[in-house]
Amino acid sequence: MPKTILITGASSGIGRATAKLFAQKGWNVAATMRSPEEETELGETSNLKLYRLDVTKKEHLQNIISQVEDDFTSIDVLFNNAGYGAVGAFEKSSEEDVLNQFKVNVFGVMDLTRQFIPYFKQRGEGMIINTSSVVGRFTIPLYSLYCSSKWALEGFTEALQYELKQFNIGVKMIEPAAIKTDFHGRSLKTFENKDVKGYDKMEKNILHGMKKRNEKAPGPEVVAETVFKAATDESQKLRYPAGKGAEAVLIARKLLPTSWFNKIVFKQQNR
Ligand SMILES: NC(=O)c1ccc[n+]([C@@H]2O[C@H](COP(=O)([O-])OP(=O)(O)OC[C@H]3O[C@@H](n4cnc5c(N)ncnc54)[C@H](OP(=O)(O)O)[C@@H]3O)[C@@H](O)[C@H]2O)c1
Repeated sequence: MPKTILITGASSGIGRATAKLFAQKGWNVAATMRSPEEETELGETSNLKLYRLDVTKKEHLQNIISQVEDDFTSIDVLFNNAGYGAVGAFEKSSEEDVLNQFKVNVFGVMDLTRQFIPYFKQRGEGMIINTSSVVGRFTIPLYSLYCSSKWALEGFTEALQYELKQFNIGVKMIEPAAIKTDFHGRSLKTFENKDVKGYDKMEKNILHGMKKRNEKAPGPEVVAETVFKAATDESQKLRYPAGKGAEAVLIARKLLPTSWFNKIVFKQQNR
């Protein structure tokens, strides 16, 4: 019997590429998104179905497992992928900016995971794959909210792996480097606060540089391949770097003193 994966944020980028890949590989795919009525690229087939799921809406989270079970009987893998970047100088951000960033990137993941743990326990198996980032292990200027949300996700995921191993529930995370998706379009929210001064040059250099880097980056298919590798890997491996330079930058982070590493990052970002 084919396995089933549930993907959040499947309307775009990494989520959509992962939905396509798993469907091609013969899996059943529950492609969840905020607005399935607007989806034009992922056509519904016998093994790919669209579902409405905003990860910040409790009423969506509570019903999603039974909806998918109606079509595919059971779910084997949860891929928490939905996320966005709240970006700019922290001084410009509001309490609402902080809350919204964490509501999607962290609390949404926790709330959906909370629905799945008893379900997987009762089935006697399951897997949870979370989407962190290379910046879940280091930081870049102007990305303090985004980075801290991914650092929170790293801590959450690592602790969860200890807890769920005894129930035969695998826990893994994907750590993409720059990937060419709509992340710097639809998923980038910059802070609007004209009263705060002093960051113009940094914003111009860094935000422009990041956008350019993402345009030259590999497409989301490389991450989809890594998700497939993680979903079919029965080892206890926790972290799966994905994309050009991801592995190398994380090794450098591990080996170099923080002050050296950060100097290199700042120089590279602020050119
Ligand atoms: N691209 C990169 O360079 C990169 C690098 C490292 C990590 N990542 C991570 O990879 C994940 C996917 O990003 P991407 O690059 O594929 O960007 P993307 O193409 O912009 O996709 C982001 C997805 O998240 C969805 N989303 C946002 N808020 C949501 C909510 N409240 N409920 C449900 N879905 C929501 C979006 O839905 P809508 O279509 O409704 O907006 C969209 O489907 C994110 O977690 C991101 O942090 C990306």
